[in-house]
Amino acid sequence: MTTTKRTMAASAIVLVATGLAAALFAQPQALAQGGLTYSAAQAEAGKAMYAAACAACHGVDLEGIGPAGPLKGDAYRSKWTNRPVEAMMAVIRTMPPGAEPTRTGAQNAELLAFLIRENSLGAAGAPIPFATADLSAMRFPSASGTNAGGRVGGRGGGGPAPGESRVAKSARASARLDAVTPVTEAMLASPPAGSWINWRRTRDGSGFSPLAKINRSTVKRLGVSWSWSLPRGENMMTPLVHDGVLYAQSSGDIIEALDATTGELLWRHQRPLADPDKTFNSKKGIAIYGRTLLVPTSDLHVLALDSRTGAQVWDHDIDTGTRTGHQVKSAPIVAKGKVIIGINGVDQVNGGNFILAIDIATGKEAWRFYTIARPGEPGGNSWAGLPLESRTGGSVWIAGSYDEQTGLLYFGAAPTYAVQRLRVPAPGSTNEALYTNTTMALDPDTGKLVWHYQHQANDQLDHDWVFERQLIDVEVGGVKHRAVITAGKQAIYDVVDARTGKYLFSHDLGFQSAIASIDPATGAKILNPAAIPTPTQVLPGLSMPGICPTALGARNLMAAAYNPSSRLVFIPLTDTCLLPGPARQRWQKNPDPATDGQFGIVQAIDMQKRKVVWSKREVAPPVSGTLATGGGLVFVGDADRWFRAYDDRTGKELWKVRLDNVAASFPITYGVDGKQYLAVASNEGSFHARGMQGYGQIARPPTNNATLWVFALPDGRN
Ligand code: HEC
Repeated sequence: MTTTKRTMAASAIVLVATGLAAALFAQPQALAQGGLTYSAAQAEAGKAMYAAACAACHGVDLEGIGPAGPLKGDAYRSKWTNRPVEAMMAVIRTMPPGAEPTRTGAQNAELLAFLIRENSLGAAGAPIPFATADLSAMRFPSASGTNAGGRVGGRGGGGPAPGESRVAKSARASARLDAVTPVTEAMLASPPAGSWINWRRTRDGSGFSPLAKINRSTVKRLGVSWSWSLPRGENMMTPLVHDGVLYAQSSGDIIEALDATTGELLWRHQRPLADPDKTFNSKKGIAIYGRTLLVPTSDLHVLALDSRTGAQVWDHDIDTGTRTGHQVKSAPIVAKGKVIIGINGVDQVNGGNFILAIDIATGKEAWRFYTIARPGEPGGNSWAGLPLESRTGGSVWIAGSYDEQTGLLYFGAAPTYAVQRLRVPAPGSTNEALYTNTTMALDPDTGKLVWHYQHQANDQLDHDWVFERQLIDVEVGGVKHRAVITAGKQAIYDVVDARTGKYLFSHDLGFQSAIASIDPATGAKILNPAAIPTPTQVLPGLSMPGICPTALGARNLMAAAYNPSSRLVFIPLTDTCLLPGPARQRWQKNPDPATDGQFGIVQAIDMQKRKVVWSKREVAPPVSGTLATGGGLVFVGDADRWFRAYDDRTGKELWKVRLDNVAASFPITYGVDGKQYLAVASNEGSFHARGMQGYGQIARPPTNNATLWVFALPDGRN
């Protein structure tokens, strides 16, 4: 049967040569049936193996319940459309992440057959081979039926050609674009009230806007001002708004500039994906400086686009050496004329995740900082004696912050996924694994590490101290500090001096059972013995049974907001554990109306007083970042498509709307010509919202559309 495969591949080449390829691709079904087959016995054996080895992370029905995404459905199919079969097999061989592979090639082929069957990517027939040489010649069928493309986020009918930018023709649109001024360093340091020109608006990570026309008393009149259908595919954007133009970032590496008052399209830039082995992915945001938008792409470039025309100014190809598997999921941040961005990658990226600075004037790399300490360098001996190529993780999933007062950048790095290899250090080495779960304070000019603070050493449960770093003022023992605060998936806040990295204190929000105590002098986390795996234990979904939270986290990528006037932090939280125990009834995987039934939470925290001011529970967990405003409001979207406004003093619900899809993105507010708007993109975004929907048994719209919603108060009553 291997011979049959080779013959098929050979005849496909002949068809290309004779110009009949279009006819072949026009019948994907025929290609699927003729091209890709597996035996029924393989798929059945794969099904059994899947249930035992994969379902804990990817869901019993392949729906994706943990940090690992679904392995079937529209998005999954689209992702693999027209890609080499060997690429999927290459992932299967490494699964589960971090475990030493024990399956045979034939068993991997059975898993592959099962995934092909469940996704209708092939047909029952001759068995599928497992050798790389055989699989490399085979591709998954095309979904569109029109050509070899047909990917999620691909160009719909009528739009401009890929790569083109287009300036709208109407006089009003031209006037909007002409009025766009350069964004200066001073504006980034203190953004004009109506603008949103950085991921969390201010570079200290506040997620706060001073705008107050939409406030506690007017919010009930909030209605749709305009909406815009976004390109299909995963979307978790943060729109940027400057001088009345809204910049939206969508799947397919598409940037659309819209009139922020009307939703009229001003220009559109699409970056085609030349590399068939890469797929489009969702990202949290873009940055702006001068007249340049800074845009990370799915093929690991950073583009500079003219903010008035969408024309490309430069194209920086991020150098990842010979290593593969990197992504950019975080938003860039601008400081000192540079755009700085975190690179992430899961298990395939050996020794390679880093923070990269590009000079905005030239488009050239200015510096990089590797988040995995190199052997022979400071911290290099903290990886249990592993050689560099076996050190994995340190992903930078979230944008960094920058503090005007200290002049430093603050970034966090995720744990390793290859946890087993770190459990027993080789003689003469340690295993805290720097700079995982660490806040790194970097000099923006040079990329030099000024200080670092590791929040948790050798994290085996993916508790991820990687989320946003916010800068606040606190007083400890009568001494005023500029402090950087951050909380990982355990929802424990660490408060650290922003100038020196000295540990100040922690504030545990009470959703976790992994950490038994915290050293008050150093902040060292002392583990609950039940949260420590044995040297060979394989953890389901990187979660420890009975320990809270699961690897989805009591909090995750949804960023907290900080109101500098009330000095409250607003954080979205979720009640999840692997197993509900009798002593922990309220920690539950599924809402249970007999007990509490509400496992989505938003909390307001006074970090100075170290106390929770209010805590609001809903059935469905929050999946968006929080937005705090000068109108005394906190906005947040949940996994069941509700988007709400709460009173920031009490947590009382003041307004809500049910959207077409979940707002698994970062809501913003902005002002143009004296009118305030509220903007949020809907779409399940990424694995986190899907996981939460899975936990909550929430039905999601099968079409999974992406839409940009913009709300405002009715005209004349502002
Ligand atoms: C310990 C948790 C875990 C287990 C168990 C696990 N996986 Fe995964 N899997 C992951 C993670 C994490 C990813 C990466 C997700 C990402 O990058 O978005 C992943 C990704 C994948 C992908 C690529 C998904 C995509 O969107 O392209 C495939 C295919 C896959 N796993 C198959 C399997 C199979 C087959 C098994 C069983 C042998 C398995 N996994 C077991 C955690 C797990």
